Amino acid sequence: MADSSGDTRLQHNARLYIETVGCQMNMLDSELVVAALRQRGYTLTDDIGQADTILLNTCSVREHAEHKIYSALGRLKYSKRRRPQQVIGVMGCMAQKDQTLVFRRAPHVDIVVGTGQLAQIPDMIDQARQHRAPALAVSLDRQDGTQGEIADSFQSYDPLRDPEMRPSPYQAFVRIMIGCDKFCTYCVVPATRGPEQSRPPSQIIDEVRLLADQGVKEVTLLGQTVNSYLHNENGRTHALADLLYRIHDVPGIERIKFVTNYPRDMSDGLLQAVRDLPKVCRYLHVPAQSGCDEVLRRMKRGYTVADYRDMMHRIRETVPGCAVSSDFIVGFCGEDEIAFQKSLDLIQEFRFKNSFIFKYSPRSGTKAFQRYADDVNEQVKRRRNNEMLALQNEISEQDNAEFIGRDVDVLVEGSSKSANKVLEHDPGSPLARQLVGRTDCDRIVVFDGNIRLAGSLVRVHVCDCTSTTLLGSVVTEQVRHGSESLLPIIS
Ligand code: 5AD
Ligand code: SF4
Repeated sequence: MADSSGDTRLQHNARLYIETVGCQMNMLDSELVVAALRQRGYTLTDDIGQADTILLNTCSVREHAEHKIYSALGRLKYSKRRRPQQVIGVMGCMAQKDQTLVFRRAPHVDIVVGTGQLAQIPDMIDQARQHRAPALAVSLDRQDGTQGEIADSFQSYDPLRDPEMRPSPYQAFVRIMIGCDKFCTYCVVPATRGPEQSRPPSQIIDEVRLLADQGVKEVTLLGQTVNSYLHNENGRTHALADLLYRIHDVPGIERIKFVTNYPRDMSDGLLQAVRDLPKVCRYLHVPAQSGCDEVLRRMKRGYTVADYRDMMHRIRETVPGCAVSSDFIVGFCGEDEIAFQKSLDLIQEFRFKNSFIFKYSPRSGTKAFQRYADDVNEQVKRRRNNEMLALQNEISEQDNAEFIGRDVDVLVEGSSKSANKVLEHDPGSPLARQLVGRTDCDRIVVFDGNIRLAGSLVRVHVCDCTSTTLLGSVVTEQVRHGSESLLPIIS
């Protein structure tokens, strides 16, 4: 098989180990890099001891994620001593943020590749193996050029898709934009992923068509602020709503999701598209971050609690039954007990489907790091985190309980995690038949069934729940007809 540079040599026996941390964007980046390396003859291994190329795809959003990567790199020093031919690469957000610091802290690393240079990875690995010289490929820092120069230095990486590399044959991530220009004061993403740039709609539609031809039923559109998507093509401005209409027309695609939304850019047009297009999931992830205006101002989020409330009312009015989930940061600079209580009040008021809760982690290079003291101690952050989680779990469980006794439509993803574990040593166990899927409002459903159902839409009768999961059983045609007149379907 020829590679993009015309080199026809296959690297037989090249074994690649890759570890990915962070967000869905990183998962997609890893999928694409692995696909490119497979084209050059690499095979994937999950045994790091057997690998001759090791890639770590990194996250910088919180310090903890970086610590874990540097500890992993520390351990790899010994592996490299045993296998000097090994190539070790650090890619992604931490590579862009720390650049040569990675080599200083871990001199056995061969290549450091930022989020905007992923296409170079295969060649960089070859060169590292031949010349044994460390190589760095990163984008410009956000203050080191004109807006155009900086944007050009962050190249979106969207090569052809390899169906075998997707985590599931029926689901795929599709990048619709890169970068972020919101500059929330706590966040490294505008530095690590560069300026906001939307991909041309025609490219996105082509990619979705290709994925549908490969058997994909559900696409999740990705962007740091996905609802800020805007692209001029053929003299017309396309917003996310326009893209949704076009993707909706692609035969074979049954579900469309998009993450993550920015509250200020939640337009009425977008909400109407979610309401009017049956394939678009009635699920919106719209991080609030805090329920206190003063904290939101210091975070430079660009909205007040009243603005967020107005957005929530528009969501509820336009798309009744839409599930909304959120992110919160606890212990941000200057967050006192009263401010924290306001975040709890916000959760009570809007009853999010679920919330991702994070303890504030100061990040060098951000405005918050320069301007504000990290004045909430770790113990208080932990306590607030636990308190918020307990409240959210209580609400999630109460809301899930509303589904008990009802039927929901589920896109089956495959075996559940516990089934996967059981399958290895006891395939005959009833647990091995446990499947997992999601409703169109993104609720996880676990039920017994044949793995052949993977990739299809089935109706499931919900009989129990936890705060994270609905538990049920497949509705057979007979039961389904009997139940339809009695039970509303509210997935
Ligand atoms: N500390 C803690 N959490 C953070 N997030 C982003 N930056 C930080 C930080 N410095 C959280 C936000 C964001 C999510 C992806 O990570 O809640 O929505
Ligand atoms: Fe970070 Fe704010 Fe951009 Fe989200 S919107 S990626 S939190 S800067």
